[in-house]
Amino acid sequence: MILVCGLSAVAEDGTLPPYKDASLPVETRVEDLLSRMTLQEKIAQLNQYSLGSNDNVNNNGEQVKVLPPEIGSLLYTADDAVSRNAMQKRAMEETRLGIPILFGYDTVHGYRTIYPIPLAQGASWNPELAGEACRVAGAESYYAGIDWTFSPMVDVARDPRWGRVAEGYGEDPYLTSVFGAAAVRAYQGDDLSEPGNIAACLKHFVGYGASEAGRDYVYSEISRQSLWSTYLPPFEAGVKAGAATLMSSFNDISGIPGSANRYTMTEVLKRMWRHDGFVVADWHAVRQLVNQGMAPDDATAVEYAINAGLDMDMTDNLYMPHLEALVKSGRVSVERIDDAVRRILRVKFRLGLFEHPYTDIKPENERILLPESLDVAQRLAEETFVLLKNDAEVLPLKPGQKVALIGPMAKSRKDLLGSWHGRGREEDVVSIFDGLSEIVQELTYAFGCGFEGEDRSGFAEAVKAASEADVVVLCLGERYSWSGENASRSTIALPRIQEELLMAVRKAGKPVVVLLSNGRPIDLSRISPAADAVLEIWQPGVMAGPAVASVLTGKTNPSGRLNVTFPYTTGQIPIYYCQRNPAREGSQGRYQDIPSTPMYEFGYGLSYTSYEYGPLSVSSDTFTVNDTVTATVTVTNTGDMDGKETVQWYICDPYSTITRPVKELKHFEKKMIPAGESRTFEFEIDPMRDLSYVDWKGDRILEPGDYYIIVKGRKVRLTLE
Ligand code: BGC
Repeated sequence: MILVCGLSAVAEDGTLPPYKDASLPVETRVEDLLSRMTLQEKIAQLNQYSLGSNDNVNNNGEQVKVLPPEIGSLLYTADDAVSRNAMQKRAMEETRLGIPILFGYDTVHGYRTIYPIPLAQGASWNPELAGEACRVAGAESYYAGIDWTFSPMVDVARDPRWGRVAEGYGEDPYLTSVFGAAAVRAYQGDDLSEPGNIAACLKHFVGYGASEAGRDYVYSEISRQSLWSTYLPPFEAGVKAGAATLMSSFNDISGIPGSANRYTMTEVLKRMWRHDGFVVADWHAVRQLVNQGMAPDDATAVEYAINAGLDMDMTDNLYMPHLEALVKSGRVSVERIDDAVRRILRVKFRLGLFEHPYTDIKPENERILLPESLDVAQRLAEETFVLLKNDAEVLPLKPGQKVALIGPMAKSRKDLLGSWHGRGREEDVVSIFDGLSEIVQELTYAFGCGFEGEDRSGFAEAVKAASEADVVVLCLGERYSWSGENASRSTIALPRIQEELLMAVRKAGKPVVVLLSNGRPIDLSRISPAADAVLEIWQPGVMAGPAVASVLTGKTNPSGRLNVTFPYTTGQIPIYYCQRNPAREGSQGRYQDIPSTPMYEFGYGLSYTSYEYGPLSVSSDTFTVNDTVTATVTVTNTGDMDGKETVQWYICDPYSTITRPVKELKHFEKKMIPAGESRTFEFEIDPMRDLSYVDWKGDRILEPGDYYIIVKGRKVRLTLE
């Protein structure tokens, strides 16, 4: 395609065209610019190429050396803004209309200051703190030349074999919605054009978490009912929070792939939810419509994708060569092209790119790994840790205890970064060993064994270290590459050798604290009974070591709660808390060979202190659709250590025309409760928002009858009259 370059949009009398006038409303500027664009210029806006080397092994994108400056977007993987500015200069100065390029990147859980993986963030039940991390991540990205992050991932995921469970906020639609919306608001701020703010991208639209058997890129079987009640809510919440963009998903949704799905992208997103930003394809998702058996060739794939509502093609370079012919032959309308271009231009105007196309170049020490950013990283990591077991109060470690630190994770750095760690570097990470060495006087170390394999030669040294210590901290878990994209596993158990190391070490007769770092729920059916304490630390990012040291020694009281069920074994998958009632009661329908209940359930987590819940009261036990009911509970910290408690509010609708889960999380709040003190927690119940359900068309339904509000085993009935 030949583009007309070098001509100016400036009128002969020297006045600026309306689209360059920042005082005009965005819509006026969009329409003015659109009216000046040729078909080729419009089509160019619908493409994303890449610049810099994309080191995601799944996306071996070629280094594009000669890029058309009229391009809509670039996936930008350089470390600073220098090449962005050079490329942007071409867009601004060498093209007829001077439309700035939008630079996108996967800042998923930090850019250089790497935070806990999103799955861990969800376990903090502290969306404000996770938002602080996103703000830092956004600012670090911004000053590296990035306008747009492909985050947050709000795919509800209930199959921990799927590696991408690490990238989302867990199994629950509500908790995922709250964290997703918090991330959107944090990245984007109140005004997208302010320095440090970047556009968010909700991904992967939609249902990617339902990938069959936890394999990646495969078919997903999703009924319209599940689509509406499980997979769409976090996207709707993110759209309401103002997300500028969405990314279409790879998965085939019951026969119509996400990237060619007119129902989800056009009917739901653009018509019902009135989203006016754009949808970008996932990486090569347009070409993959051929692999998926939908489009016989590339041109047809482009036709299906754009007509379904997919506005921008990510890196597979298919819109550029095919769209013009498709428009000329009438297979794609000019109206659809215009609609897609409008959406992309809108985001560029809102970002202020026409006024500030270039990034200020700042030295690294002014933009990455700043002390305040590391502070957020440590506080967030500490709040994500979930204490799963603590027999005989073996934790916190007691002053003066001799500690043996053992296991493959003890000195690892890279594995603590997790997958999709942006520009994070191994050398930025404080290891568990280094973190503990700062605090524990008498610390010995033994390697024990690798993450996998058959080499048991380190066992003897590990057992010796254990027998000479007062307590063992055994660091087990998963390598960073065992979760994330294209990282499915057939079993969620750790490799046998790690379990064997535990069995060997415990023979020393000393209390054993197992520290687990992983990107998915793990089968703990053998590990947990053999350990005295188990602390889940997920993949905590750069401040792993200090965060672990603080929690192990009791400087910080663990306050994480599971946001994903830990199955007893892989055979229980899928298992999640908000299942529906079975047809038969009692013991029927259970597994014969393993328990039917999970190892650790959603919402579970221990503390170094104890909390006592008072009675649950409601402002009224009957209500009408327009009433608000307030539920209240008082929680007392009855132990002798300050702690943060999260009150989890569930509802239950025991009988409804379309059956509902046994309980559904609808609200949560985390508060610090000093030792000996009490705090009151409230849930303002808006019946339509909190008690209704959604049907397979997306309509909200509130049926008369009884509902229950549930908090920590307490239950009160509310009746809709
Ligand atoms: C992933 C996306 C990511 C994109 C760009 C894809 O392979 O599925 O989550 O945003 O690559 O790197």
